[in-house]
Amino acid sequence: MVRVADKVAIITGAGSGIGEATAKLFAREGAKVVVADVHRENGERVAHDIVAGGGEAVFIPVDVTNWAQVEAMVEQALATFGRIDILFNNAGIGCVGMLHEIDEAVWDQVMAVNVKGVYLVAKAVVPHMMAQRSGVIINMSSCIATTGLALRAGYAASKGAVYSLTKSMQVDYAPYGIRVNALLPGTIYTPFVENYLRHSYADPEEALAAIKKRQLTGELGTPEDVAYAALYLASDEAKFVYGAGLVVDGGVTAGK
Ligand SMILES: NC(=O)c1ccc[n+]([C@@H]2O[C@H](COP(=O)([O-])OP(=O)(O)OC[C@H]3O[C@@H](n4cnc5c(N)ncnc54)[C@H](O)[C@@H]3O)[C@@H](O)[C@H]2O)c1
Repeated sequence: MVRVADKVAIITGAGSGIGEATAKLFAREGAKVVVADVHRENGERVAHDIVAGGGEAVFIPVDVTNWAQVEAMVEQALATFGRIDILFNNAGIGCVGMLHEIDEAVWDQVMAVNVKGVYLVAKAVVPHMMAQRSGVIINMSSCIATTGLALRAGYAASKGAVYSLTKSMQVDYAPYGIRVNALLPGTIYTPFVENYLRHSYADPEEALAAIKKRQLTGELGTPEDVAYAALYLASDEAKFVYGAGLVVDGGVTAGK
């Protein structure tokens, strides 16, 4: 079964973690993938892996906080593949600390990448989807948008904004045949989480054990767990799913 055959997908932050897994999965399922990332080496590696495996992909460098770069990336995507069917706004960064501990510059950067980045890339892509009267947008939120978690205030605020933005975007763009949904993952084992563990805890192993404990599964998620959820939302199987937040969190928000 090829679930996104011939669809053109832009995936931001596709050079690592969840974005990388999704880019590879979408390509296996027939999509032409734009690997859009600020990290050139990683982005090129992912696009190369996809092409080497018989898929279609191109790396286009972009910093999602920079409008000129975003516009150029979307123009290059259109020049390469002719249209855009799927946009996965996945690029994101973390932020650790209680509110009073967060540097203003760190706060601004988290909001710039996690919130403004979604706004800018969608702003560049949506007019093309409106013109073709079809499209799918998936915005990367987090289960932290719906529940409190220690030391994550800045990150939670950014992901809550993305969740709210998703619903309003959906209302505005439904008349144009565009579906807009959010993904709300729990803790997924990626370089993002490895980094967080290394820099935020004296004993990363102990911290990892504590995080595993709060999962009903007793384990962290894998990038592929989220990639499969993105594939569902991107595919026509989700044609009646509008403005939803799909939780993929190993039961963290279900309670103990
Ligand atoms: N890993 C988790 O536990 C988890 C949980 C919930 C939500 N998320 C969200 O999922 C998304 C992906 O996370 P991940 O764990 O795969 O992280 P990751 O660090 O492995 O990958 C993030 C990618 O985004 C790219 N990126 C960062 N800033 C960018 C910018 N300004 N422009 C373009 N690309 C940029 C990075 O280069 C990297 O390739 C993020 O939005 C994150 O907040 C992650």
